[in-house]
Amino acid sequence: MMVGRQAERLPYNYHINKGMASYLVVSTSGNPDSNSRRMGRIAFKHLEKAKVSSAWLDISELNLPLCDADACYTQPGAKKVSKAIEEADGILIATPVYNYDVSAAAKNLVELTGSAWEDKVVGFLCAAGGMSSYMSVMAFANSLMLDFRTVIIPRFVYATGRSFEGDDLKDKQVAERIGELAAELIKFTKALRG
Ligand SMILES: Cc1cc2nc3c(=O)[nH]c(=O)nc-3n(C[C@H](O)[C@H](O)[C@H](O)COP(=O)(O)O)c2cc1C
Repeated sequence: MMVGRQAERLPYNYHINKGMASYLVVSTSGNPDSNSRRMGRIAFKHLEKAKVSSAWLDISELNLPLCDADACYTQPGAKKVSKAIEEADGILIATPVYNYDVSAAAKNLVELTGSAWEDKVVGFLCAAGGMSSYMSVMAFANSLMLDFRTVIIPRFVYATGRSFEGDDLKDKQVAERIGELAAELIKFTKALRG
């Protein structure tokens, strides 16, 4: 199995003959009352409704180590997330905006899993405190594009706490946008994987 950056590079066409595309939604908030997780769950339901092969991963349920570029790769949690990412063709990352960036946990996830991200299609669901952090995922998206040639879906879903009432997403525009993102994930992934 591939582990972090020490992984062997797969041939470029590795994914092409893999058969049916698989999808993954990853929640990267540690907050039990997380809005990005709520958005991720809604996106996951859209994938289920579309009857595509899909999986859900919540990193708050895994005891993930911090990346140390060494022993971390052998930890069970790191192996589990690597496998889940390797097996997916299209991935939605649900993330909090922290300090005008994705959560450190989201970045740690990529550091732990490295080349497992190669050639994937990636979309973003972001929960923030205010509207002015809209472009916060760009540095992270750029690193995925340039390091792993991921294809980034140019339609982010971004919501603040005002879109929610308790567990419920009340904002119809955000709800619609989540559906559009899930549909685009499938469209982009199928187009690229064949
Ligand atoms: C450490 C920290 C940093 C934050 N930085 C920002 C920020 O830069 N911009 C912003 O709009 N909101 C910021 N917020 C607010 C969060 O984005 C907001 O609470 C969001 O709901 C978190 O996502 P979650 O509910 O999925 O955990 C920050 C919150 C915390 C705890």
